[in-house]
Amino acid sequence: MVKLIDSFGRVHTYLRISVTDRCNLRCMYCMPEEGIKWKQKEEILTYEELFRIAKLLVSMGVNKIRITGGEPLVRKDIESLISSLSSIKGLNRLSMTTNALLLKDNAYKLKLCGLQSLNVSLDTLQKDKFIWITKRDKLNHVLEGINSALVCGFTPLKLNVVVIKGINDDEIMDFVSFVKDKPINIRFIEFMPFENNRWDYSKLVPYEKMKNVIQGKYELIPIKGNKSDVAKDFCIEGFQGTVSFITSMTENFCSSCNRIRLTADGSFKTCLFHKPECNLRAFLRTEASNSKISEMILQALKLKKIGHEPLEELANIENQSMIQIGG
Ligand SMILES: C[S@@+](CC[C@H](N)C(=O)[O-])C[C@H]1O[C@@H](n2cnc3c(N)ncnc32)[C@H](O)[C@@H]1O
Repeated sequence: MVKLIDSFGRVHTYLRISVTDRCNLRCMYCMPEEGIKWKQKEEILTYEELFRIAKLLVSMGVNKIRITGGEPLVRKDIESLISSLSSIKGLNRLSMTTNALLLKDNAYKLKLCGLQSLNVSLDTLQKDKFIWITKRDKLNHVLEGINSALVCGFTPLKLNVVVIKGINDDEIMDFVSFVKDKPINIRFIEFMPFENNRWDYSKLVPYEKMKNVIQGKYELIPIKGNKSDVAKDFCIEGFQGTVSFITSMTENFCSSCNRIRLTADGSFKTCLFHKPECNLRAFLRTEASNSKISEMILQALKLKKIGHEPLEELANIENQSMIQIGG
């Protein structure tokens, strides 16, 4: 088996697939205010094409796949993709990241199709602020979606909160209380810069600061993780839920990065902060053999750098917007 090893010896086992660039929210930090140029239907990989690449990458060592977007649940018949991916031998984990707007009526179907875990994104527990951040009045839908996921056994459920100074940093303790009696791992994520997402350093709430806020009231007890984990995990005595921090800005994970990304249009990306190295769509559509496609993938992987640029340079790097990448 050809392993997905880059020039620095990092083995890649985790594939993130964005299945659409469309989303039913308009989060201010994710989608540029002026909008994006939506991909045309024919530019988006079909489920057959996604399945073929996924299967090939699993044969090259990928053992975990996360489905993301845009919003993955807005893509028609997403269950059929989940079903086919979950049948791939050698794939140990199939997950999805969703804003949960459509989860209430879909959680059970997703579970039956073989989805194993879910990350839900929610940045505020306040109705008015939710409308301000997302430009949609849908907080209740998200909360119902979270409930439904828990009932269907997606536990522990991961809840992603992007913390932005002056927007939701006053809600850190509310989120911690929210998970006290729920099997939810709350993950506070440092705000990252992407194309036209109005990032600036003053809006970043560093990990240490978030941690101090919580430690003013509770002792955070570290949970030992794996080398490739991007989260720093903690538990709190008497809590069912746990607390994590994703420190992409203040302590990056480049040295143990095991991730590769496929965007909805077939672009192959080896670093969240760099432009795609190649696009596989044309190869898939010109009847290229699997060995030709795996050669392309390995060549792209060779271009992966030892790490991304330092924080002060990241905001000026040419990249895509997060809604196009999928996180
Ligand atoms: C782009 S969304 C796509 C999946 C789905 N629509 C959702 O909301 O979960 C994936 C994740 O990226 C996170 N994200 C988007 N922009 C970000 C940024 N600038 N910094 C940190 N995380 C960000 C979102 O909060 C979400 O958890």
